[in-house]
Amino acid sequence: MTKTDVSIAPATGKLGILLPGMGAVSTTFIAGIAAVNKGIAEPIGSLTQMGRMRLGKRSENRSATLKEFVPLADLKNVCFGGWDIFSDNAFEAASKAKVLENELLQQVKPELSQVKPMPAVFDPNYITQITGEYVKKGHTKMDLAEQLREDIRNFKKNNGCDRLVMVWCASTERYTEPAPCHQTIQAFEQGLRDNDPLIAPSQIYTYAALKERVPYANGSPNRSVEIPALQELAKELRVAICGSDFKTGQTFMKTLLAPGLKSRLLGLSGWYSTNILGNRDGEVLADPGSFKTKEVSKLSVLEQILEPDTYPSLYGKVHHQVQINYYPPRGDNKEGWDNIDIFGWLGYPMQIKVNFLCRDSILAAPIVLDLALFMDLAQRCNFYGIQEWLSFYFKSPLAAPGLKPEHDLQVQLLKLHNTLRFLGGEELINHLGLTYYGIVEE
Ligand SMILES: NC(=O)c1ccc[n+]([C@@H]2O[C@H](COP(=O)([O-])OP(=O)(O)OC[C@H]3O[C@@H](n4cnc5c(N)ncnc54)[C@H](O)[C@@H]3O)[C@@H](O)[C@H]2O)c1
Repeated sequence: MTKTDVSIAPATGKLGILLPGMGAVSTTFIAGIAAVNKGIAEPIGSLTQMGRMRLGKRSENRSATLKEFVPLADLKNVCFGGWDIFSDNAFEAASKAKVLENELLQQVKPELSQVKPMPAVFDPNYITQITGEYVKKGHTKMDLAEQLREDIRNFKKNNGCDRLVMVWCASTERYTEPAPCHQTIQAFEQGLRDNDPLIAPSQIYTYAALKERVPYANGSPNRSVEIPALQELAKELRVAICGSDFKTGQTFMKTLLAPGLKSRLLGLSGWYSTNILGNRDGEVLADPGSFKTKEVSKLSVLEQILEPDTYPSLYGKVHHQVQINYYPPRGDNKEGWDNIDIFGWLGYPMQIKVNFLCRDSILAAPIVLDLALFMDLAQRCNFYGIQEWLSFYFKSPLAAPGLKPEHDLQVQLLKLHNTLRFLGGEELINHLGLTYYGIVEE
């Protein structure tokens, strides 16, 4: 495919952003957009709003903001919808989540109060630590999927939206192994009709989104769009998908540090990560089933970055441990500690300690925004199936079957920028740089 094959539909009209889960991340995101639109805050951390990239050769001194360079939905033209097992509107939910100061929340109260969730598709077998009454009823999982599809269509019509995207911001479900009902579209649809217990609520939302041709991003470590049946459906219906698990606190740090250690060929004998957090996400993760899902997502990062099979003497015996401790007094203000045991020249040991006092939802909100806008762009470019160029945002980035996912944040950023350069008809940047020295001709 060359640039001339890609035509990008304009971002005219209104974009509806659908959010399963109206908790800390979603409400911090919605409140942020309202605050930015009112001019009382800046969209810090968002590439789509503040990012720039270089164009052409370094000697040309050209650069562009991402939002000037590719057509993205304007923040004034977005609206929000979603589902939750609690009926609180986004203002009430944000007040309970306690991420944002009351003073700021009061300033965006009108915008938040009008975002009211729709009743959720929920299964207590998948999330054990919380229960809510605001849930849909249906004889089969297919009935529930149909109800979600109807919600999506009604939302679009009632809000005058031209396009929709869905970003999963609901709780982490318990860990499940892939099963036969996840393998093909036919088996999955049969499973929906038969109420197969191995079909999780998040998979029902994903199915509904794809059937309505709504791009879907998975912000949790759930196995939702990760199953072959739904990836096949996304391809068949030409819908963009991406995941999994927003890359925010500790894993963000890991994907900064581990590639650096590996590029210097410093060895690693152990990486011990522990953290405390007290929000509802932490409460849900106190259940071993949900924690297992998160743990798999977090543990895979190091192995994939370090490639122990290729470098057995450096990374063949890494003791990697991850703990999440639910500690209510901290609320959303997580604290993470990492102890990293490395070794250098002649095997001499060294240690690195990282103590990150982060705010989970403050880090996650701009990711939700960028994913919503970039997934809308992808759909308008007819980029369907897995959007690997959005790996930058995920702990467990999806990649085509047989491909190793890319975890290095800087490589992920280059991939994202190059994809945008490609869309805008600009030269891709490979950092070879020999032309500046006359060694290679232009
Ligand atoms: N905060 C971060 O930095 C971060 C980072 C990576 C991933 N995540 C993931 O993002 C998700 C949201 O995190 P959060 O901090 O906002 O959690 P949260 O607990 O504050 O919000 C999740 C919301 O989802 C609702 N919910 C649960 N099951 C649902 C269902 N089936 N349908 C609709 N709603 C449902 C809950 O009632 C809750 O209101 C979690 O899966 C979390 O693991 C968060």
